[in-house]
Amino acid sequence: MSTAGDQDAPLGVSLEHRTAVDAQQSRRLRRRSLRLLAELVRPVRGRAMLLSLCVVVAQAAGSLGPLLIATALDHALPAAIDGSLTELVLVILGYLVAAIVEAGLMRIFIVQTSSLTQGVLLSLRRRLFIHTQQLGVSFHEGYTSGRVISRQTNDIDSIRTALDSGLNDLVTAVMRMLFIGVAIFVLDPASGVVAVAALIPAVLLTRWFQGVSTKLYRESSERSARLIVRFVEVLHGIRAVLSFGTERRDAARYTRLSEQYAEANRRQVITMGVFFTLLALISNVAIAALVAVNGMRLMDGTIGVGVLIGAVLYLTQFFQPMEEIGMFANTFQSAAAALEKVSGVLEEQPTVRPAVGRVDGDRAQGRIDFDDVTFSYSGVGAEHTQREPVLAGLDLHIPAGQTVALVGATGAGKSTIVKLLARFYDPGTGAVRLDGRDLREIPDAQLRRDVVMVTQEAFLFSGTIASNIALGRPGASREQIESAADAVGAGPFIRALPAGYDTPISHRGIRLSAGQQQLVSFARALIADPRVLVLDEATSSLDIPGERDIQLALRRLLTDRTAVIIAHRLSTVRDADRVIVLDRGRILEDDAPDRLIAAGGAYADLNRRWQESLQ
Ligand SMILES: Nc1ncnc2c1ncn2[C@@H]1O[C@H](COP(=O)(O)OP(=O)(O)O)[C@@H](O)[C@H]1O
Ligand SMILES: [Mg+2]
Repeated sequence: MSTAGDQDAPLGVSLEHRTAVDAQQSRRLRRRSLRLLAELVRPVRGRAMLLSLCVVVAQAAGSLGPLLIATALDHALPAAIDGSLTELVLVILGYLVAAIVEAGLMRIFIVQTSSLTQGVLLSLRRRLFIHTQQLGVSFHEGYTSGRVISRQTNDIDSIRTALDSGLNDLVTAVMRMLFIGVAIFVLDPASGVVAVAALIPAVLLTRWFQGVSTKLYRESSERSARLIVRFVEVLHGIRAVLSFGTERRDAARYTRLSEQYAEANRRQVITMGVFFTLLALISNVAIAALVAVNGMRLMDGTIGVGVLIGAVLYLTQFFQPMEEIGMFANTFQSAAAALEKVSGVLEEQPTVRPAVGRVDGDRAQGRIDFDDVTFSYSGVGAEHTQREPVLAGLDLHIPAGQTVALVGATGAGKSTIVKLLARFYDPGTGAVRLDGRDLREIPDAQLRRDVVMVTQEAFLFSGTIASNIALGRPGASREQIESAADAVGAGPFIRALPAGYDTPISHRGIRLSAGQQQLVSFARALIADPRVLVLDEATSSLDIPGERDIQLALRRLLTDRTAVIIAHRLSTVRDADRVIVLDRGRILEDDAPDRLIAAGGAYADLNRRWQESLQ
């Protein structure tokens, strides 16, 4: 098991064993998160240290105020009344300087930490994006795109919140409490004792709050996740929802989930209210006790009025940072969970390692050999649990220039074969070769140049039609683009678009039909001019009335190269040099289409049923 931190412990093991596994697992995850954090912080270590110094000095300066006021009241003012102004002027100056130092350094701290964290986040985002892209098809077939998206959005955002405001506030709050605590002892040890005595219940309260709110927070985020999943699922399947008329049931279910989420949030807010009010109560009781104790000492003449006022000022500030400290638990928890998941993706290794080396100037001939290839999806990604091999000892040899059609029932292994040919996966044992060379030894750029695959989802990127075709050959001229489009029969419909080849296609631009999208992807493949072309059900969205045009387009696409096509379209298969009938990963029949029909086997059956379906 290798993917991300969110898999469950294996089922069917004893509870103790599971707890041990969980503990071990969570230690491993924590180590992984810390490692990532250390890597992210390493480049900015020096600056982070300087900024810590900033906040320490700022908070030290900020805690001087009440001390100076006490000095002013008890010493400087009486001296001034006696005619000596120096001390009072010094105290006032000191007060001003402390205020300016605090404000200036805090400004630097806030501005600089935010630029620092943005830099760290930028590098994390980039790393995650580049890494996710490199993980290849095997990863993406197992790790749903919803989860990938949530890594790049929610999780990074949680980390951002923690770094940006949470950590800032926490460090500031802790420093503030520390310096106020010290200052109050410097001012008057007896008042310091009162503060520390009040600190005990405040700390207990904060611990309680952190515990409860962590639990509530987890509950609320689980419910919110469930809500989002439900929402996405319904929207994703909106056609099924509408056509089966399940809207009302879906709405009821959604409402129930929303209510549960609202309830969790309500409990969170209530707990927060309890925490804040109890903290305020503790603070006020402490102030009352302080006034009582120090009032008596004032009457005794043990302390001056300055000490009384200074101590009260300190105590009013002392407990405020506790709020921040208590609140940090949630921020911290969500960031820690996010960091676990993100570090999980970053630790995923591509199952297909691109070969490095120089790209061969000569293009391939296009001979393909599957030599005793065994393949199963188990062990590829996290969600593949299948044990049976999909291919067991497959031998398939295709001479250069041949057009081969793969046919067989759904699940027979047709797509698996072509995914191996495009090296989206590597075989377990055996080898797939191009011109006798193992695909694992061919540099990635060369393989992508020589082998191109077009699938049913003809993906179009936002941009113009022309730029989508040019994807097959970066830097293609407009003539090349247009002639490729014409060759596959896409020219007429493109020219009829509002801006022709420059018509933008995106969620705001024009919507192409599935068939038109496939024609564009054919043009993209033709302009790439690969030695080996793979079509996996790439003609399934083209309409029957255009049958002859499609045949012409396909012929243009398939000539002068090796082609492996998977098609449910009789005419396409009939035009192939050779048909291979697959059954559960094994080759059942392999010959020219008319000979297979004459032989009266599985392909002949299939062919008869196709013929019948056309009538
Ligand atoms: N990404 C995948 N993960 C796990 N199993 C898969 C995956 N893709 C296909 N399979 C399994 O491999 C077998 C062959 O599938 P496939 O090659 O897609 O068949 P075909 O294209 O002939 O319909 C099926 O049993 C299918 O369930
Ligand atoms: Mg398939």
